[in-house]
Amino acid sequence: VTIRLKDYKQPDYWIKNTKLVIRIFDDYTEVLSELSMVKNESVRGLPALVLDGVDQQIQSLAFDNFVITEYDYSGEQLTVQPTADEFVFKAVTHIEPEKNTSLEGLYKSGSTYCTQCEAEGFRKITFYLDRPDVMATFSTRIEADKSRFPVLLANGNPVEAGDLDSDRHFATWEDPFVKPAYLFAAVAGDLVRKDDSFTTCSGREISLRIFAEPHNAHKTDFAMDALKRSMRWDEEKYGREYDLDIFMIVASDYFNMGAMENKGLNIFNSAAVLANADTASDDRFERIEAIVAHEYFHNWSGNRVTCRDWFQLSLKEGFTVYRDGQFTSDMHDATVKRIKDVRFLKNTQFPEDNGPNAHPVQPQEYMEINNFYTVTVYEKGAEVVGMIHTLVGDEQFHKGADLYFERFDGMAVTTNDFVACMEEVSGMDLTQFKRWYTQAGTPLVKVEERYDAEQQQYSLSFSQSLKTTPGQSEKLPMVIPVKMALLNDAGDELSIDCDGNFNPETRVLTLTEAETTVTFSNLAAKPVPSLFRDFSAPVRVDFNQAEGDIFTLATKDSNTYNRFDAAQKIYLDALLGMISSGSEATPAIVEQVVEATLADESLSHAIKAALLTLPSYQMLVDNIQQNVDAELIVKARDAMRNRIAEQFSAQWQQLAEQLASAEDYQFNAQEAGRRELQGLALGYFALMTGNSTALNAAEALYRAAHNQTDRLNGLRAVVNSTNRSRANAMLNHFYDSWKDDTQMVETWFSMQSASDGVSVDSISALMQHEAFDITNPNKVRSVLGGFISNFKSFHNSAGDAYDFVAEKICELDALNPQMASRFVVSLENWKVFSEKRGALMKAALEKILNSGQRSPDVLEKVQKALA
Ligand code: ARG
Ligand code: ZN
Repeated sequence: VTIRLKDYKQPDYWIKNTKLVIRIFDDYTEVLSELSMVKNESVRGLPALVLDGVDQQIQSLAFDNFVITEYDYSGEQLTVQPTADEFVFKAVTHIEPEKNTSLEGLYKSGSTYCTQCEAEGFRKITFYLDRPDVMATFSTRIEADKSRFPVLLANGNPVEAGDLDSDRHFATWEDPFVKPAYLFAAVAGDLVRKDDSFTTCSGREISLRIFAEPHNAHKTDFAMDALKRSMRWDEEKYGREYDLDIFMIVASDYFNMGAMENKGLNIFNSAAVLANADTASDDRFERIEAIVAHEYFHNWSGNRVTCRDWFQLSLKEGFTVYRDGQFTSDMHDATVKRIKDVRFLKNTQFPEDNGPNAHPVQPQEYMEINNFYTVTVYEKGAEVVGMIHTLVGDEQFHKGADLYFERFDGMAVTTNDFVACMEEVSGMDLTQFKRWYTQAGTPLVKVEERYDAEQQQYSLSFSQSLKTTPGQSEKLPMVIPVKMALLNDAGDELSIDCDGNFNPETRVLTLTEAETTVTFSNLAAKPVPSLFRDFSAPVRVDFNQAEGDIFTLATKDSNTYNRFDAAQKIYLDALLGMISSGSEATPAIVEQVVEATLADESLSHAIKAALLTLPSYQMLVDNIQQNVDAELIVKARDAMRNRIAEQFSAQWQQLAEQLASAEDYQFNAQEAGRRELQGLALGYFALMTGNSTALNAAEALYRAAHNQTDRLNGLRAVVNSTNRSRANAMLNHFYDSWKDDTQMVETWFSMQSASDGVSVDSISALMQHEAFDITNPNKVRSVLGGFISNFKSFHNSAGDAYDFVAEKICELDALNPQMASRFVVSLENWKVFSEKRGALMKAALEKILNSGQRSPDVLEKVQKALA
């Protein structure tokens, strides 16, 4: 069934209050619900009540005190006939969380019971109007065995607890804030608790609690600290104060996504919350900090103001990703954060826009909403919010956000409502801008320059276009903010005197037409344009800029992001040239960039590392776009990588040595940058075949490491070298040392699945390993997820990975459709590859379709990919 935005209509009934009793027994759970409902005033007559409810074993149903004897239950929806405008619908049902491998609704994560309700999991717990525009206050009572489940949690504030017969106990929680069912959560388990507190800007003391299984108790300090910093930041930057008296986080080993913002009771994937220096790398710390912030920020952008329907998902996700990005930039280094975000966008979202699953930030239709928790909705959605910020300016943006939170508090609204607030405060008309929400695809901006020495005039012509995407053939021009400067050859910024729609304060030139030409006057020499500074719009740029100019940008641009971007362009152009000519010779300009970067004392370690990293294989595919020869891509990129390794081997060695530190581990931008550059240098150094000095240095770093980043830098360098026996010995040592630590075992799996040239057989063997568990998403992601992103291995010359992954998708689909569906992306872009390879990928997709019963999740993706 296809659900469409244009069909949206309010429900016939509302739920004002929801009262739940959840009785957990060993092999089933009994759920009692009392829904206080009223008919929607705008609806005539007394329509049937249609409630969502999946796999409910009905024990009894009633309206107030009248038992319902006539009802229709399909296994997904229950239809009953009310006899009044206002009533309490009561249901007693049984469910089986022990058998729930989908990890939606109530399920068991190890020995802990927990829930995941977004998007449509609540209907697996009880009958409900499971849609985000139905908002109710909740009271939740949980009952369970006292010794095995001493901790009983739900949303809101604790109001009552006590003992029951047969060693059971109960706890009751009340949430006074109205919310949709997707924000419901309940937990029962044997968990240890870390306590802290936070005093809000108005002086209220909030009790903070992080719950984890006993063996993970030593890994919760960092998340607690990140939580407190997030709470402070949201007060200072957005004026958002926390509302309940208590805020809780629970770590769960079995979780489909990163984390979930349930009101007052966030549930996190263990991997997204647990960390200490010994087991978490810098990347992990940064990711955890960002996710803790993200979920916390949802309390306002998502919970207090929520989405009217799931087509509005980006209203909360795009905005919240934008907010967590600002937080990370404030905590660490804004340029480094920008570089990482753009890299991620280009590596994942651009290909999505270019494939069969291309969809707008606000999708217009879906079969399975879980398939739309995408990089487009999240990350491109955040870019769209960022462009609004750029266009209206900082002051108006914050005024607009304040207005949005105030006006829509307690309501379920749309992206239009958000934009309208920005329009109202700024006086700007954003009608055309809103095409960013409705038109799918990445705009292409072609740029041409002309210099007239006589007139001392310089002009830039921009033409934008947007390719057809599935279901959208007609595309209109977008509003594209181009943050820019004109530089002289020394990299100094020139003052701008121009005739276009240029804002001198923000240095933003705004394009609104398909073609725009802007003329700059009073220029005694041809300037070097620095365009799309800080990646001011999520577009592809086609600008045949003179190599010398790009070199100037890569080495001298005062906008550090654009230095990175220019260096990437030099690498990319060189690689594309090598690929099309089949040559393995690296153009000289590449070495010049590397040399200049290595010698530049003004750069931070982190920026240096970014400037010295080649574009990914995936990025090359995305830039070639048709008839892609995977083997040529690998050959060219590896040749360039090896050339850089060899040409600068003395510098790599020196850097790796000089960047070593015996200081205690600290997670901050500077230290993380140092470790990153050291890892990069060591990696290049160890690439030189047969270089035992390098491998010794790497192994020494691994052995002496007191933190995970150093340990992995050492291990990775050896694992990706050509010395297999040494790599295996170190991997075995790692496993023996850490096999009792779940996060370390996951890392151990990932290290192998991501290693250079790993075979299908090795992946298959990892999936047979004693520590592997196909019902655990983290394990599956660390093996299979690592493998599908390992370009060289996944697209190996034998072409045997596709069929293997297809088989695994089918196996997973029977257990956990949401997870299975995530892997289809690996085969989705089969059309961009050369004929033979494309055919193998296509055959794998067909196999998925033709081998057994498929979930709507997988079906939707595969059908689109084959259409
Ligand atoms: N709202 C969560 C977050 O981004 C993600 C939940 C996704 N759940 C899902 N079933 N797709 O913070
Ligand atoms: Zn989110």
